[in-house]
Amino acid sequence: MLEWSLLILALLISISASAYAIILIYDLTLTTFFKFNGQKLIPYVTSKNFLLKKLLEKTVGLISPIDKILELGCGNAKILKALVQKYDCTGVGYELQIAPFLSALIRTYFLRQKIKIHHQNFFNINFKNYTVIYGYLLPYLMPQVEEKILKECAPGTLIILNSFPLPNLRPFDTIKLPAKNELSSKIFFYRL
Ligand SMILES: C[S@@+](CC[C@H](N)C(=O)[O-])C[C@H]1O[C@@H](n2cnc3c(N)ncnc32)[C@H](O)[C@@H]1O
Repeated sequence: MLEWSLLILALLISISASAYAIILIYDLTLTTFFKFNGQKLIPYVTSKNFLLKKLLEKTVGLISPIDKILELGCGNAKILKALVQKYDCTGVGYELQIAPFLSALIRTYFLRQKIKIHHQNFFNINFKNYTVIYGYLLPYLMPQVEEKILKECAPGTLIILNSFPLPNLRPFDTIKLPAKNELSSKIFFYRL
């Protein structure tokens, strides 16, 4: 009986490990060889906890329960979940890599009435229904993101960007954080 249990356990572990390895290889292939909207896919790096803490402090009075947050490339949805929980609003995250997408689904499972996670390219959706947008992307994507924001978002939309600003719009607030490098080093706030 014990031998059978151990055998089944070993089988389950090896199936999970193989599935995880396949997902990681898929994500690595996506970020290394594929282009989306003519640009390489950004590697998955999560926003740092010290940035999240500051973000939650600084958004008091800026986000309320009537808001609908869009996270561009939501990774594991750590930021989206924290904002939705704090402000009792709703949110949608888009993520193209499978490992962070699955992680976001699991993380937000108990908030699934309020948070939707999609495995989709955020450049292929319309931003017009969102009142708050959060993104942690890379400089080469920001001109395209800015163009889309200016074309589709309504006046009053709050845009929050981690580390890399929009090329033309002027932020109404910029917070500098004690980061070791450029990543998670600043938060830019814009109001359309
Ligand atoms: C630097 S990570 C940030 C993750 C998360 N937003 C955070 O702050 O912790 C950027 C993520 O955006 C995703 N991404 C980049 N371009 C995307 C696109 N066009 N559509 C959907 N996801 C995208 C990448 O797969 C990556 O996981």
